[in-house]
Amino acid sequence: MTDTVSGPLTAGSIAGAAYIVAALLFILSLAGLSKHEKARAGVIYGITGMVIALAATIWLTLQDTWGTGHALTGLGLLVAAVLVGGAIGLWRARVVEMTGMPELIALLHSFVGLAAVLVGWNGHLEAPALSPELTAIHHAEVFIGVFIGAVTFTGSIVAFLKLSARMKSSPLMLPGKNAINLGALGAFIALTVWYVNDSQLWLLVVVTLLALGLGWHLVASIGGGDMPVVVSMLNSYSGWAAAAAGFLLNNDLLIITGALVGSSGAYLSYIMCKAMNRSFISVIAGGFGIAAPTSKGDTDQGEHREITAEATAEMLTNASSVVITPGYGMAVAQAQYPVAELAHQLRERGVNVRFGIHPVAGRLPGHMNVLLAEAKVPYDIVLEMDEINDDLGDTSVVLVIGANDTVNPAAAEDPGSPIAGMPVLKVWEAENVIVFKRSMAAGYAGVQNPLFFRENSQMLFGDAKARVEDILKAF
Ligand code: TAP
Repeated sequence: MTDTVSGPLTAGSIAGAAYIVAALLFILSLAGLSKHEKARAGVIYGITGMVIALAATIWLTLQDTWGTGHALTGLGLLVAAVLVGGAIGLWRARVVEMTGMPELIALLHSFVGLAAVLVGWNGHLEAPALSPELTAIHHAEVFIGVFIGAVTFTGSIVAFLKLSARMKSSPLMLPGKNAINLGALGAFIALTVWYVNDSQLWLLVVVTLLALGLGWHLVASIGGGDMPVVVSMLNSYSGWAAAAAGFLLNNDLLIITGALVGSSGAYLSYIMCKAMNRSFISVIAGGFGIAAPTSKGDTDQGEHREITAEATAEMLTNASSVVITPGYGMAVAQAQYPVAELAHQLRERGVNVRFGIHPVAGRLPGHMNVLLAEAKVPYDIVLEMDEINDDLGDTSVVLVIGANDTVNPAAAEDPGSPIAGMPVLKVWEAENVIVFKRSMAAGYAGVQNPLFFRENSQMLFGDAKARVEDILKAF
């Protein structure tokens, strides 16, 4: 803990001041990241805060151990860890595709969870000598830290496996799954009371295994359509796991940073649940109270119609208003640049062009906004789902570029669908809908899309980037 009493400056008070500056920079960073225009500044605040935090921690550690044999070994280990971790992080961040970001983030959350478990175990094995009251608090910190960390660890690994399609995205429906989750929570509370009174190692082993199993089960029970909320919920858990580690390590900054990540992640999960018409409690409780879907939408929908790029170009030039609704396929195809050029050329011809962004289009929050900003699409024509939905009925042409679940009418019309109740972009209300995709395959949630068979819909098959470039050539 840093001492901030008046009098001569101590190493602790200087590090404490540095931690406050770092914490303020993290808050500014979060504020910046909530707006497109300030996101870059937000990232710079975050990096600066982290550099200050790392420098202050290294300096404080050196001050504490200076003159002892541990100082150089400690410094050597710290520098080696920062270099190895930094190099791996830099390499992964440089090579990762934008579409691979969610699974990378899920994997990073698992590291935070694992770190919290290890810190907790260390807190047990190297328990400090404390008064009886403080010892009880220390035991509670160890137990809760290990529990949250282990749930975050396996939960994030399952999220990684599901997002990277190494595990099927449909929900695991074990009989009595709610009883399993509630039972595990009850057992955790009972074990915590026991451990606080009698800190036996086997109790720590049991809670670690219990939490590892619970984390796995919680996320495995969530269907593909709800994964965005799960990713932000795991983000929140990783924050609380870091805060728990901060208590054990007596590090104020880790507590503040963990609480910032934990609360902002929880709030983001709440906003996403509202946007997707899901119960927040149901999702964080591993699908508690959500009935198993009764329909996959695989009934015969009839015939679909196809259109060529040339015919699409002609339809667009005659249109008065066009709305583009991008989805994950635009990211896969890296089609944002030709799409931006298409919007630009249509606007030059006097067509009213706007973008409609679904809150969970793509594979991570804000995915489409980032891609469109990268391609320099003006912010004022990029509208949220709620801002554009009422205008879709008066739109001449909607271009659905690599989107599927987010424009699926079954969400609004089929109560048995796995995505029932999720608000979607009502593109089918437009005069004409052109769907860009490579096949008739289902989207992420694995459900058929009746939109493709509607009378006003036509399919433009192929890679989205190549097809949009064909339209530009045809102009
Ligand atoms: P999806 O429902 O995943 O559909 C994407 C469509 O893009 C697919 O139907 C695919 O069809 C098409 N596609 C893929 N590559 C393409 C290419 N190169 N060119 C043209 N089309 C291509 O996408 P969505 O509408 O954006 O919905 C997002 C889904 O992901 C939701 O279910 C959401 O819950 C889930 N999710 C979102 C997040 C966040 S936070 N946004 C995180 C995890 C999961 P073809 O294969 O036939 O081409």
